[in-house]
Formats: sequence, C-alpha cells, structure tokens
Amino acid sequence: MSDFTHEKLLVIDFGGQYNQLVARRVRECHVYCEIYSYRTPIEQIRQMNPKGIILTGGPDSVYAEGAATCSPELFELGVPVLGLCYGAQLMMQVLGGEVTRAPEREYGKTEVLIDKPSSPLYTGIDSPTVCWMSHNDYIARAAEGFEITAHTRNCPVASAENPAKQLYAIQFHPEVLHTEHGFEMLQHFVLDVCGCSGDWRMDDFADRTIAALKNKIGDGKVLCALSGGVDSSVAAVLLSKAVGKNLTCVFVDHGLLRKNEGDLVEGVFGDNGIYDLNFIRVNAQERFYIKLAGVDEPERKRKIIGEEFIRVFEEEAKKIGRVDYLVQGTIYPDVVESGLGGESVTIKSHHNVGGLPDYVDFKEIIEPLRDLFKDEVRALGLHLGIPEKLIMRQPFPGPGLGIRIIGDITAEKVHMVQEADAIFREEMERAGINKEASQYYAALTNMRSVGVMGDERTYDYAIALRSVNTVDFMTADVTEIPYDVLKTVMTRIINEVEHVNRVFYDITSKPPATIEME
Ligand code: XMP
Repeated sequence: MSDFTHEKLLVIDFGGQYNQLVARRVRECHVYCEIYSYRTPIEQIRQMNPKGIILTGGPDSVYAEGAATCSPELFELGVPVLGLCYGAQLMMQVLGGEVTRAPEREYGKTEVLIDKPSSPLYTGIDSPTVCWMSHNDYIARAAEGFEITAHTRNCPVASAENPAKQLYAIQFHPEVLHTEHGFEMLQHFVLDVCGCSGDWRMDDFADRTIAALKNKIGDGKVLCALSGGVDSSVAAVLLSKAVGKNLTCVFVDHGLLRKNEGDLVEGVFGDNGIYDLNFIRVNAQERFYIKLAGVDEPERKRKIIGEEFIRVFEEEAKKIGRVDYLVQGTIYPDVVESGLGGESVTIKSHHNVGGLPDYVDFKEIIEPLRDLFKDEVRALGLHLGIPEKLIMRQPFPGPGLGIRIIGDITAEKVHMVQEADAIFREEMERAGINKEASQYYAALTNMRSVGVMGDERTYDYAIALRSVNTVDFMTADVTEIPYDVLKTVMTRIINEVEHVNRVFYDITSKPPATIEME
C-alpha cells in the first residue's frame, strides 16, 4: 500500500544490526521512512524525493576491498544526510576525510564530550552525555568543510557536521536506548534539520488505507486467514471496514491454541462480534492430532501443522467459491527480514512474504500492513477499536502449543499445557508482572519422573515455565519473577493439573537458548 504520497525519509542500510531500530525511531518521530539497501541506484533515491537520508552502521571497514559504499552524489542531492557509525565513516571517506583502525576499540556506554553545543543535533543536551559506541575503526581526520562537534577520550571525532551542506556524521548509535539522549538527537535531525512536519499518524493511515482498499476492491470478494494474532486481526478489521460482508475470514482452530483462545477470537469476529464480515470457524483439532500422532521431531511437527493448515484453508476457500483477493498480515519487519527491503541477512524465512500461494485461485494478494512496524500495527488496532486483549497479546507462534510440547503431541498433553499456561498467566496478571514480561508461557517437557502425592507414588510430567524480557526478541533475559509468585504457580499447577508432578522455571537467556523451548 505504498501508493500514497507522504513526506519520507530514507534509511540506507549497510548491514548494521540496528538498521530496523533506526527506522523505527524515525517513525516514532511521526515521520514515515523506508529502508533500502546501499546498492539502490542513486537515480532511484533521487526519484523518491526524500526529505532526508540516514546511513546506518555496518559490519565492514570502509577501507576494505569490496566494502559497502555509496555514490558521492548521495551527498549532493541537496537533502540532509546523517551518517551513523559505519555511515559516518563512509561519509568522511567518500568526501576526502580519513578513516583508520582505532588504536583503542570502543564498545559500550561511553562518555561523549560535546564541543559544539550549538549543533542542531545537540539542542538542549548537556555535555558530557552517555552514548553507545561499537566500533573498531574511527574517523582519524574529518573531511574538508566539516567541524568536529563532539569527541570521546579515545575517539577524536565522535561527531562532525558540515552545516552548509546539511551533512552530519555520528560515530555512536543514537538509535539504541543506551544512548541517553539518542532519541532527541534523531528527533532534532528528522524534525529540525530535515524540516519534517511529523504528521505520520495511525488515524490518518487508517482513513487513507480504508479508502484506497474500497477503491481498489470495489465489489470483489476477499478472503483472509485469521489467526487472532495482532497482525491478521488488524488486517481483517481494515478490510472489513472497507468491504464489509465481501470479506470472509477463516479461523482454523488447530487444537493447539491457548485455553479459551478460540472462543475469544470468535467472540470478537464471529456473528455476535463487533465487525461486519463473514466469519468461519473451523474446528479442525482432530485432523491435526491424527496427523501429528507419534511425531516428535520439532521441524516435522512444524511442517505438518503448516501443511495441514493450508489444506483446511483450501477446503474452506473452495466452499466459498469466488475469491478475488487474499489478505495477509505481512508487516514491515517481515519484508525487511526477507531481504526485500534492506541489507540484512535472512534471519527467519517467512512463509507470508514474496510468492503467492498456489492453493487458492485469486487475482492478487493484499497486504495492508506491509509498511508498518509492530508498534504501529498495535496503535492502528487500538485506533480501529479492536479490544486491547487482542492487540496487546504476547507473540504466539503459528504452530502454537505444538512447539511447546516437547516430543509427540496428544490431546491429553495439549490439555495439560493449556491448563498450566492459563494458571501461569493468571498469576502473572495477579502479581502485576504481566506487562513487564515480554513473553511468558508454560511448556510441557517430555520428562517424567517419580514423585509422591498423597500417599501415592506418581510417575508424571514436568511443566517448564518460561518468561523473558526483551525489546526485539533477538536477545532476551529471564524475567525475575518473585519466588512467592513462582511458588503459587507451582502449587496451583500441581494441584489443578493432572499428571504433572514437577514445575521448573527456565532461567536461560537468549542466546544461548531461544525463547521457545523446542
Ligand atoms: P525464538 O524461540 O526463536 O522465538 O527465540 C522468537 C520469537 O518468535 C516466536 N516463534 C515463532 N513464531 N512460528 C512463529 O510464527 C514459529 O515457528 C516460531 N518459533 C518461535 C516466539 O514465540 C518468539 O516470540
């Protein structure tokens, strides 16, 4: 849905690990931006008519052979450019400065001394200020026309600028939260230097998108696979507001949802719900359990669940008859992580980006959230009046409880993990820790051991609890849940869930572990 015109910043990606974060911060300034690879031709960049350009960090050394680079014309477009870390070094090198290996590598929180308090980027920020550094090379000599605006103990050019040409270079990372006033610096660049108005708002986006969808679809028939997750829910509501009953949402209950989740989704989207659309719930639990019987290898389970899902969905689509458009809840990080936007290596393969599924006959795929970050999708969802319960939901994997049950899956095990998980969630909410933890759940280990309950010997399962705090889900730390809360959860699980005689709390960070246990 990039067919609207809006003031835009470009984030040019040199492969740095924080590239999406840079873009998100710009969006947080209420300015629209897009990420492009450094390989993007200069002509294309010019045609996009950006209000400003940000060059991200990257893993190379600017002086290494074959290093990522950019055209000198990038600095002659007449629009402000901000280089961050590698981007800053590249700007200097391309414009005639000097970048060398730093005698002292800087990593971590570093005190930055501001030499030019009147720099537009440092308005209202006192010196010294703590910033996040991560570099082996440094700018040994700034390019001609640049003035050094800050330094550190080990780094003579922590930032520099050429105000006449509106070029700014920052060695540290203002986009990460460890940089105390980083967001303000970015805001100064985006709003003050680039002169953006900061009017990118989700209410506006909603109105425009709904109108565009109406216009495009007309009387066409639209089909959406609704999981009840944040992205597919918001996508479905946008479509419902655009085409009403010409939208059919198919919700497949694969029997691997959390306790009562199917009813929650049906309550919101079903016939007694709050939206104008056709809702079909398929209770396909049995089919999935049969296909999964005896399978204990995680990747196999994922595959079976995915394939069976497609089969069920296909059957429903055939019953509906004509389908013109298929809706998918693809969001911007999916696009970028699939290697379509920026420069990042593919971290996860996303089934929902790129190719068109061939199992339903339709004209076109519609991805109304393709330009949005997760927090923007949430803001949009709240604006559209979707219940907070759905919008603020924690991430839940597509294969659901299937990958929270180690080993083979049975209806009985699903029941155990659903009950234990419901208890854990209830107690986390009661203790008020639920908003602090990013994701938490109960999993069923495949371990059985001897226990004693009443006067009887048991040989039952161990439940593992997992709770992590994370910003980006790429790294995570264990949530420090108070002992009394853990003990309450343990007691309740043992008492209320049959065939469980032990409860573990997984305290491993990611890395080395992942968030999910399988
Ligand atoms: P890991 O375990 O890789 O999880 O640290 C990171 C985030 O991704 C979710 N996740 C999945 N989501 N299908 C999904 O749709 C999957 O197979 C899957 N595996 C993990 C997980 O819940 C966490 O938020």
